[in-house]
Amino acid sequence: MIYGIGTDICDVRRIRASLGRHGDRFASKILSDAEFATWKARSERWPERGLRYLATRFSAKEAFSKAIGLGMTHPMSWRRCEVATLPGGKPTLVLHGELKVWFEARHLSAHISVTDETDYAASFCTVEILDR
Ligand SMILES: CC(C)(COP(=O)(O)OP(=O)(O)OC[C@H]1O[C@@H](n2cnc3c(N)ncnc32)[C@H](O)[C@@H]1OP(=O)(O)O)[C@@H](O)C(=O)NCCC(=O)NCCS
Repeated sequence: MIYGIGTDICDVRRIRASLGRHGDRFASKILSDAEFATWKARSERWPERGLRYLATRFSAKEAFSKAIGLGMTHPMSWRRCEVATLPGGKPTLVLHGELKVWFEARHLSAHISVTDETDYAASFCTVEILDR
């Protein structure tokens, strides 16, 4: 059964401006430790890929926050919601701490899809209740 859906579109130019203003501090607010390490490695090799990585993560987390109906309110937080990559490239959500506890207590499962093109990154998230 569907618990919720969420979508988000993110202006890559806004992310670029925030990175320009706050640098790594902005990325570390949005990204989990593992995501931050990936972002750093990609940015060092190719800054544009790092920017797009951050923008798609930003939009995926917002889409998830809507799908669970909390928005960016506790226990949802940027860093507790991690977008990992499965072998083959498919994105998957890995939750941490209180968000993981909240999510699992409700027997939920999430599906996330992200995309980006020129100035925009977008994501769509579906959350379902697993059969008990
Ligand atoms: C959901 C949220 C992350 C989106 O913020 P945003 O990036 O500024 O805005 P977006 O344009 O991407 O999305 C806005 C839409 O998200 C949806 N939305 C808002 N809160 C939501 C929630 N808790 N669950 C699911 N969707 C929500 C609404 O449809 C809203 O559109 P509307 O303003 O026309 O009603 C943010 O609004 C949020 O954290 N909301 C919950 C906390 C909150 O409401 N704080 C203010 C209390 S006064």
